[in-house]
Amino acid sequence: MNKPAGYYEDNTVLAQYLEFHFGESWHGEANFPKELADGAMDALDGRATCRALDIGCAVGRTTLELARHFDHVDGVDFSQSFIDTCRDVVRESVARYARPEEGELVSYQERSLASLGLAEAARRVAFHQGDACDLGADYRDYDLVLAGNLIDRLYKPSLFLKTIHERINDLGLLVIASPYTWLEDYTPKSEWVGGVLKDGKAYSTLEGLTDMLSPHFRLLGEPRSLPFVIRETRNKFQHSFSELTVWEKLPK
Ligand SMILES: C[S@@+](CC[C@H](N)C(=O)[O-])C[C@H]1O[C@@H](n2cnc3c(N)ncnc32)[C@H](O)[C@@H]1O
Repeated sequence: MNKPAGYYEDNTVLAQYLEFHFGESWHGEANFPKELADGAMDALDGRATCRALDIGCAVGRTTLELARHFDHVDGVDFSQSFIDTCRDVVRESVARYARPEEGELVSYQERSLASLGLAEAARRVAFHQGDACDLGADYRDYDLVLAGNLIDRLYKPSLFLKTIHERINDLGLLVIASPYTWLEDYTPKSEWVGGVLKDGKAYSTLEGLTDMLSPHFRLLGEPRSLPFVIRETRNKFQHSFSELTVWEKLPK
């Protein structure tokens, strides 16, 4: 199995993501999947809230948070084990996982959707295994598409970025958050959206996004930086920043 799919099917990574989405806050940072949904809701600023798509949803917290406001939210991820986990969390109304502590030692954690104010929202979500670069025809008519920490994990981000307008309603929003950590393990360098030298000059991912999206979108407001902490073990954390940009779909 190639690395992207294999990496996100791993049980340890699954537990780390359950902690990231449903667990404690670490090093003073707010819950990132919830912050993403809140940032998207602020950007929507009174626009329609019928249908949303959380693409690359992992274990589903952002999907559930959006469903507090939307009539229907689809959560889509490449990883079947992430999607199975999302469905288990909704069916049982609780996230249960063995959190890595040290070596082979784990601690057993559980967090109910009711304790997060998400029990009712869980009725308005649907989770599906799928590929952001090759979505089926049913994924359409969205008022919001949110891609959180996804684009630098895609094998061909241009396939996603150059076609996603077809699925968004006029004046609907595309919200992208990414730390722009391009790695050839996930994305061949020829496919990096930015973070490269072009004719000897620095070409940023924001420039790349603008070039790919500008035929159908305009950038709303300024990019902003959202911190996130992924707890690997009791003694090891990844502290990163994700740049959040909001793109409005231009009417035809
Ligand atoms: C870095 S994680 C971010 C997950 C989540 N949005 C978050 O903020 O916690 C990237 C996610 O993208 C998913 N992914 C990778 N390639 C994908 C693809 N082609 N289509 C859909 N999801 C993909 C992975 O399985 C993983 O869940």
